[in-house]
Amino acid sequence: MSPEIIFDPYTNLYSKATSLIKSSEVRDLMSVTGRSDVISFAGGLPFIGGLPSEDITAAMDTVIRESYTDAFQYGETEGRPPLKEMLVEVMAGEGLHCEPEHILVTTGSQQALDLLARIFINPGDTIIIEGPTYVGALAAFRPADPSFVTIPLDENGVVVDRLEELLKTSRVSRPKFVYVVPNFHNPGGVTMSEERRGRLVQLAEEFDLIIIEDNPYGLLRFEGEPLQTLASRDRRRVVYVGTLSKIISPGIRTGWALAPPPIFERIATLKQGADLCSPSLSQMFAEQYIRQGLWKKNLESLRPIYRSRRDAMLRALAEYFPEEATWTHPQGGLFIWVTLPAYVDTTKMLPLAILQKVAFVPGSAFFADGTGVNHMRLNFSFADEGSIDEGIKRLGKVINKEIRLCRALGLDTV
Ligand SMILES: Cc1ncc(COP(=O)(O)O)c(C=O)c1O
Repeated sequence: MSPEIIFDPYTNLYSKATSLIKSSEVRDLMSVTGRSDVISFAGGLPFIGGLPSEDITAAMDTVIRESYTDAFQYGETEGRPPLKEMLVEVMAGEGLHCEPEHILVTTGSQQALDLLARIFINPGDTIIIEGPTYVGALAAFRPADPSFVTIPLDENGVVVDRLEELLKTSRVSRPKFVYVVPNFHNPGGVTMSEERRGRLVQLAEEFDLIIIEDNPYGLLRFEGEPLQTLASRDRRRVVYVGTLSKIISPGIRTGWALAPPPIFERIATLKQGADLCSPSLSQMFAEQYIRQGLWKKNLESLRPIYRSRRDAMLRALAEYFPEEATWTHPQGGLFIWVTLPAYVDTTKMLPLAILQKVAFVPGSAFFADGTGVNHMRLNFSFADEGSIDEGIKRLGKVINKEIRLCRALGLDTV
């Protein structure tokens, strides 16, 4: 929150939902970490410098030359049909085959999460999330005031056995949905195994649940074999959420939901009140970018860049981080998740890191109950390899110092 609104004279006027909204730790941080002298591993920014400007011009030029009156006009709430046809092609790239009429274009996939929260959650309803989970999903779900039940992640994704245990012992009331990020998790960096995908979909059937499958990173695989989406296993039980943010650009704010028809209708009705339609200009640009095959070219050039940045970060972590630290080895996506000894609080450590001109996101931002304080999320897609090495070196020094301090104070034995 900015200093000028520490005292807020309008407090009594706000809705209950507003009082439930917490300022995102990521957003607060961006103001400092965006300074050019800070090496930031904090944001989730794709490497836009890799987008060839001639390709952007080519796609934009076609839009303006051929149909500028549509591009600057309102469009259908559900999204433009020609774009939906292109999105069918994008999803087919991950083996998910669907019909364009089941796709609802949203203003970023973030909007899909917001609308889904609003159509499903009453105050107090149970929803199942992963721990850690995407901070923006917490922000979208919180205003609806759900009761969050967190299932931990391990190196094979969400621990489905735990979910099963929970559902079987009916320690929770029937959840409205299970929200998962199966590929190259944000922030966890892990991917849900094939076996767990199958089991999760079975559980959804057994316990009559809906799964929200949020998949912004699946096509950013630079190692290993692609795995089947949850939606391609069961279209009735899975609402699939996709986005062009990480494979083309987040600036065009183009995402989508692939949902069973009754859910589709509810989302569409609510979206009408939210923004009438997503920007026509963005949709038409995206359509051309995909139609002209430029998205594939972009993906092919991004994958090796991200892979070598990930490798640079893994090398630097091995060299500069203390031996008590562990981290994930993502096969794609943008993030590495670091675990430090339980007595280290990364939120408290962050200002010290910023003083050394390096930034990360503290783990507690990714847990509904604010636990996870000994973790941090590191983004490897944005900084170049030299900056990654230097930034991790600086961060390693901060962590080593913090660990020494904790030990001197006896905090490591508490
Ligand atoms: C897991 C996940 N879901 C959704 C989003 C939102 O993406 P957008 O609204 O740009 O499509 C992000 C962005 O970082 C994300 O990491």
